[in-house]
Amino acid sequence: MAVLGLLFSWTDLLAQKTLKEAYKDYFPVGVAVAPRNLSGPEAELIKQQFISITPENAMKMGPIHPEENRYNWQDADAIVEFGQKNGILVRGHTLCWHSQVPNWFFTNSSGQQVTREELLGRLKQHITDVMTRYKGKIYAWDVVNEAVPDTGKSIYRQSKFYQIIGEEYIQKAFEYAHAIDPQAKLFYNDYNTESAAKREKIYQLVKKLKDKNVPIHGVGLQGHWSIYEPTQQELEKSIRQFADLGLAVQVTELDVSVYPKEHERRARKDTDQSIYTDEMMQKQSAHYKMLFDTFRKYKGTVTGVTFWNVSDRSSWLDNFPVSNRKDYPLLFDQHYQPKKAFEGVVNF
Ligand code: XIL
Repeated sequence: MAVLGLLFSWTDLLAQKTLKEAYKDYFPVGVAVAPRNLSGPEAELIKQQFISITPENAMKMGPIHPEENRYNWQDADAIVEFGQKNGILVRGHTLCWHSQVPNWFFTNSSGQQVTREELLGRLKQHITDVMTRYKGKIYAWDVVNEAVPDTGKSIYRQSKFYQIIGEEYIQKAFEYAHAIDPQAKLFYNDYNTESAAKREKIYQLVKKLKDKNVPIHGVGLQGHWSIYEPTQQELEKSIRQFADLGLAVQVTELDVSVYPKEHERRARKDTDQSIYTDEMMQKQSAHYKMLFDTFRKYKGTVTGVTFWNVSDRSSWLDNFPVSNRKDYPLLFDQHYQPKKAFEGVVNF
């Protein structure tokens, strides 16, 4: 069977467990989607394999709230409707992030920077409007995304939210969200969560929130990993440390790049080739198996795992961190067929 791994057809796929079947007693397995994924072969694959979806961009501050008095609901509505129609859970992403946030948010009508009170007011209005529209239809939200920097001593990223409001913007965002939908599970979400220094800062951040009884229910490990990281030990350490605070852990944006991980955008060099070697494929399969073995080991604490994009046909890593360098980070190949890594994930 292993030898035939690359020759899977749809029939073979149907003959083996789907992700949602294999994980029904563990956690929902989800996928990030754009409206274009909701018809044709990708929609079929999503319905067959996944039990949860996350809008890849449609609910971010910029896309959904491009001007102060204008919301663009169309894409987010389409994704929520697809979930409802097909009995698929929806995770919300994201209510407050320093990236993909429109400039109007920080500027008043006379072109000046908004005051602390004005910005808190805008944040509250934004969270209230978005969460009210989807109340009861979104089971978990990434409330604050990437508030911690990768380097330096400070716990807090020097974002406009931090500079204008101070660290309290995080607490406030959780409080506004909880007031609108007390049933929704609220997450702090970040990447590079297995770096010792960053893990510690995130731990300090969420511990402070817990100590103040702020309504936070979990930590999202984005899971933008590679075939070289993290180790099982590093991953377990993150899961355990957040679980010790009484928090759930979800892997919210999983992909396993075939290149060494880089977190900053950079220009493509001559040495950056887009090749998927047999060795990379084997390493990726072993890595995916280790990751899911670990997620299952923490059943009860790990309450969801979401892939960031549907298949290797197109993923955000094709353009990040290096533009126009193709990556092969997912469980389904460019023809939507399950890769060798898929086997190790569903057979246990
Ligand atoms: C990415 C999307 O996949 C891209 O389409 C978009 O151009 C940029 O954002 N961390 C996050 C996600 O929390 O929202 C990001 O998604 C990937 C990194």
